[in-house]
Amino acid sequence: MTSPASPASAPKLCVLKFGSSVLHTADDYARAAHEVYRHTRAGEKVVAVVSALDGETDALFDVGASVGQNSHDAMLARLVRCGELKSAALMGLALQRAGITAAVLDPHEMSLKAEGSSLDANLTGLDKARVLAHFEQADVIVAPGFFGEGADGPVTLGRGGTDLTAVMFAHWLGASRARLIKDVDGVYTDDPAHVPDAHRFDQLDYAEAARVSRGLVQDKAIQAAQSLGVIIEVAALGKAFATRIGPVPPKTGARHRVRPLRVAMLGHGSVGAGVCEHLLAHPGRFQLNPVLVRNALDHARNGQAGLRFTEDLAEALENQPDIVVETIGGTGVARSLSQSVLRDGMHLVTANKAVIALDFDRLHELAADSGRQLRYSAAVGGGAPILETLDRVSQSGAVLSVEGVMNGTCNFILGRLGEGALLADAIAEAQALGFAEADPRGDIDGDDAADKLAIIIRHAFGVSIAPGDIAKESLSDLSAHRMQAAAEQNLVFKQVGHCSASSDGRIEARIELRALEPDHRLALLRNEENGFLVQLPHESLYVQGKGAGRWPTAEAVFADIVDIQRLAGGHLKQPAGLRPQRCAQTARMPGEEIA
Ligand code: HSE
Repeated sequence: MTSPASPASAPKLCVLKFGSSVLHTADDYARAAHEVYRHTRAGEKVVAVVSALDGETDALFDVGASVGQNSHDAMLARLVRCGELKSAALMGLALQRAGITAAVLDPHEMSLKAEGSSLDANLTGLDKARVLAHFEQADVIVAPGFFGEGADGPVTLGRGGTDLTAVMFAHWLGASRARLIKDVDGVYTDDPAHVPDAHRFDQLDYAEAARVSRGLVQDKAIQAAQSLGVIIEVAALGKAFATRIGPVPPKTGARHRVRPLRVAMLGHGSVGAGVCEHLLAHPGRFQLNPVLVRNALDHARNGQAGLRFTEDLAEALENQPDIVVETIGGTGVARSLSQSVLRDGMHLVTANKAVIALDFDRLHELAADSGRQLRYSAAVGGGAPILETLDRVSQSGAVLSVEGVMNGTCNFILGRLGEGALLADAIAEAQALGFAEADPRGDIDGDDAADKLAIIIRHAFGVSIAPGDIAKESLSDLSAHRMQAAAEQNLVFKQVGHCSASSDGRIEARIELRALEPDHRLALLRNEENGFLVQLPHESLYVQGKGAGRWPTAEAVFADIVDIQRLAGGHLKQPAGLRPQRCAQTARMPGEEIA
């Protein structure tokens, strides 16, 4: 979660609509979550408006007709909205798994009002303040589309009505646009499935959109957007481009055909297996080489269908992959491989904070020399986009300090100790949950946090400090007596990494165990959560998310891979005048409006 800790600036808001054409099965919610994460990690707040799963509304109408015979429309509306309610809850669950903070709100929890006939109503009002208040705690609000609260109960907005919900939310909440995610990558002059030389519009006006969209966008939604001045975008999942519908002259553009990226996966542990699952869920977009593991037979026996495993590095890197994803961890083979991958002209995506902290300059130089991308969002904060936030704010002004909880395992363990657990039991639990490092001493003694703090210092201040030079307090030094004394004063112990710049440019950095007031933002972090307070001259920002574990970490790795794919497709601009220590890893390129 990214939000102003002080009220100086309001984050940008976008409305994303996920229609039934991209929600075919329960697995599709994970793909929708990737799309949401792309926006939240770029610092936007998102309202995700969802349709029912594909076919569900028809099935509900059918069963309603069968049970009710000549039933009243009002009763049918009450039934068919259930598809959207279920879908919103599933979306909330998928976001939660990915470590994205979300609130799922039903229409009555937002005072989302509607008027008109039960099966073809229009939305008439929303309690904006009530909705926006949820962004204090969450990056995403999930809302069921297609229906609102009528005077006598729920009423639906006609088929395709979720488009209308998205347009109305964009209008009421002042969002920059309503982006409708469909199974096509824009509006075409003809149906591209049947007319191969149909042209894709880059932009078109409302009247032309109504004429050519043939139900792709609900007519009522286009009319509402025109009268309220809302920009509609029609886009596909994972694509940077869209057709913009607004007060603009029609303009056709190129049809985009993106070739699948060849991906080499090194490692198939907790994070690696999660990344593989995401890659396999996008069959047309990625080609996977055999995955490098220590014991191929074991993995083949227990691994995912569709994956091949190898113990041979040459085989893992066969056919010059576009991207190498390193999830081996540690500073052994992973360290030398990271350099050779870039030297040999492949993009590198890694979650390896120890390697990035040690070889920051060398790796950035290699990336710059070979013109390849070096991405490591997951190395710090897991799914919490602290590095992206620092890249964004440090471009426009000085960062004064950053402090935060940056080791999920320690946060988890401290929580358990506070509940009376023994240290050994708490460590074992963190290991079982996949939070801890292979050797959990790296977590306990603060080495993992020091690696992350060293990377944060690069992004915040552009200064090199070796992790070994950062003073650390170990969790094993925390006596029961000290814990007890803190508990008696109602204080909460956290492992906090702190770095700040003094007026003469010196950087102070340390990892310490700090007893915090219970209402301190960092004290509120639970389990594997990470949180960061960024102090700027005139405001402070707070970034929060799940900092460890398979899915949040895999989410950040996958987002890096997708960013590279969008760059390869020419849909993101390479930043001019790269400052390697800042920009080689930014999720959003300077000057790019996130699409
Ligand atoms: N062991 C690390 C932690 C994993 O607990 O934070 C994520 O970097």
